Amino acid sequence: MKRATGRAPGKIILVGEHSVVYGHPAIAMPVQSVGAELVTELSRNGGVRIEVPDLKGDAQAGKRAVEAVKRLVDRMLGLFREDAQGLTLSVRSDIPIACGMGSSAALCVATVRAICDLFGRHLADEEIASLAFDGERIFHDSPSGIDNHVVALGKPIYFVKRKGASPIKVGPTAFRFLIADTGIASPTAEIVAEVRESHVVDRARYDALFWEMGSMSSMAREVIRARAGSRAELGMCMDRNQELLRSLGVSCDPVDRLVVAAKEAGAAGAKLTGAGRGGNVIALLGDDTDEAALSAALRAAGAKQVLEAELTPSG
Ligand code: PMV
Repeated sequence: MKRATGRAPGKIILVGEHSVVYGHPAIAMPVQSVGAELVTELSRNGGVRIEVPDLKGDAQAGKRAVEAVKRLVDRMLGLFREDAQGLTLSVRSDIPIACGMGSSAALCVATVRAICDLFGRHLADEEIASLAFDGERIFHDSPSGIDNHVVALGKPIYFVKRKGASPIKVGPTAFRFLIADTGIASPTAEIVAEVRESHVVDRARYDALFWEMGSMSSMAREVIRARAGSRAELGMCMDRNQELLRSLGVSCDPVDRLVVAAKEAGAAGAKLTGAGRGGNVIALLGDDTDEAALSAALRAAGAKQVLEAELTPSG
């Protein structure tokens, strides 16, 4: 029977998580060293059968993944007028779950791509991102949309909720990051809901924090695009963003330990990425940072895994 595969990378948010939910800009980039893959096949038995073997250890995540894939498949079969088709779908992913690296968005984008491929349909990356958003809503309360966009576009983006994503043209400077996993799962929907409650209680203070986070994103975009983009300047935007995230109450001791270790080992900047209260910390290498020493320092400070990502010049 006919078979097709869809893939999507992981992601990190460089600047602007949380404030992006309130309409301020944020910057995200794909992480190609991890990804989700969905293989689908037409089946004679009718119906839709979904296997999520890699999520078996986490019942809740597994249930949501099945629900999201099912919703996307139903919608796309309707869109392509293939409702009568029986399908089997199988998911594989090495993106850490609930750690701010876009595991749910990658699953949704991989699903949309696989179904397109199975029926020989081509959709633009923007259309793939907006279809995938329907699945993302099952995982998260009311996501901003940054994750599905960066994962579908596969490029660094400047994102504003309801306005969409603009790809960022990276200037001649390459920016290299280490991504250190605290090993603590952090449920995005819960943390976003808590921040929303605090915002209701203390609106002026939270609005000021969000506003400054948004201006850090705009500044960071200028640095990334600049003809002489400085790692130290991007690092400063990240460090300030981390202070603001701490004021928001979404950091935690294991994250702070990794941030301090990264800075002491010479990182130009370091901050949590994603919802916070665990998940991953990103550290930007400065001009003279010893990458091996930085990686060792992150592990000594509790990182369970250290991945790499790079913003390479667009040329
Ligand atoms: O899914 P995560 O943990 O990468 O968080 C996404 C970033 C938030 O700004 C906290 C939520 C959102 O919807 O943008």
